[in-house]
Amino acid sequence: MNQYEVITLNEFILESQSQFPQAEGDLSHLLHHVGTAAKIVNREVNKAGLVDILGEIGTCNVQGEDQKKLDIFANDHFINSLHSCGEVCAIASEENESFILFDDDMARNGKYVFLMDPLDGSSNIDVNVSIGTIFSIYKRKTKQGEKATMEDFLQPGTEQVAAGYILYGSSTMLVYTTGQGINGFTLDPSIGEFCLSHKKIKSPEDGIIYSINEGNYLKFPAGVKQYIKYCQEKDVDTQRPYSSRYIGSLVSDVHRNLLKGGIFMYPITESAPKGKLRLLYECNPIAFIIEQAGGKATDGHKRTMEIKPSSLHQRTPFYCGSTNMVNKVEEFIRVFG
Ligand code: AHG
Ligand code: MN
Ligand code: MN
Ligand code: MN
Repeated sequence: MNQYEVITLNEFILESQSQFPQAEGDLSHLLHHVGTAAKIVNREVNKAGLVDILGEIGTCNVQGEDQKKLDIFANDHFINSLHSCGEVCAIASEENESFILFDDDMARNGKYVFLMDPLDGSSNIDVNVSIGTIFSIYKRKTKQGEKATMEDFLQPGTEQVAAGYILYGSSTMLVYTTGQGINGFTLDPSIGEFCLSHKKIKSPEDGIIYSINEGNYLKFPAGVKQYIKYCQEKDVDTQRPYSSRYIGSLVSDVHRNLLKGGIFMYPITESAPKGKLRLLYECNPIAFIIEQAGGKATDGHKRTMEIKPSSLHQRTPFYCGSTNMVNKVEEFIRVFG
């Protein structure tokens, strides 16, 4: 790709689709609408502080979290954009207790269900630190034209047909996969297009960054405590001690470690005995992306994408990133528990 060749997200989606003669363009059309919603959310994120979009709205979501105005803004815009595209028959969101059914002529025949964390890293919104959106797409199990059911959503991560995230950072990026590798697109505000900037991202199988909220240290499993100690020991051959980097926004921590190499860990803690991160719209899409980049994503024992979901908002411990680092923490968990 020469430096002057601009490949927009939509051109890339259509080009990718042309490699699958049987593809009818539905997924391409859906991904195009994800890009549009991302630009709308990005516009508000970039003005946050100048418009009435900061702070809380005084309501709680099903997670028991105080909802921020931007949580709701992002949620509403992704729901509207995906409803109008007609390819999605229902949506599950972190911000809604149950799934949102589209039962009208426009969307009832949609082939896909869409799951999302519309605004990830909400605690960072008011302090101008990077935040994101995470999405996961499945083919529905129920027949087109029927009402979507919970069965359409409770599929293992291995069934995802596409997944990705938008990172509203120093630049705004959209990173996604449909199972043929992962590519990153950077928004060029001067032309309002996401442009291919990170072709076929491959993640280093080793790294020197570990990301974890060490404030929860006392309640970590013994194996995780031992692994943190391992990261902090001096050893020239393995470039230890590693660097600790933790932003508190999953998309930002994962994206940095994806490009540079590293491990992100969210084990069980006192306040989150099953882990804090949500399997369906945080861990599975991130796991799909990480695996497609050559990395690994597990619950400390088992591949995240093979977990059979039993509820929309279920949580799971999450260890993801460079394969050799995830293998190492799993070894400590096997030995120390
Ligand atoms: P969300 O803002 O969508 O609720 O997600 C927040 C998550 C994730 O983004 C981040 O990795 C994690 O919460 C941080 O949790 P702690 O503040 O407990 O470390
Ligand atoms: Mn939240
Ligand atoms: Mn989140
Ligand atoms: Mn969120």
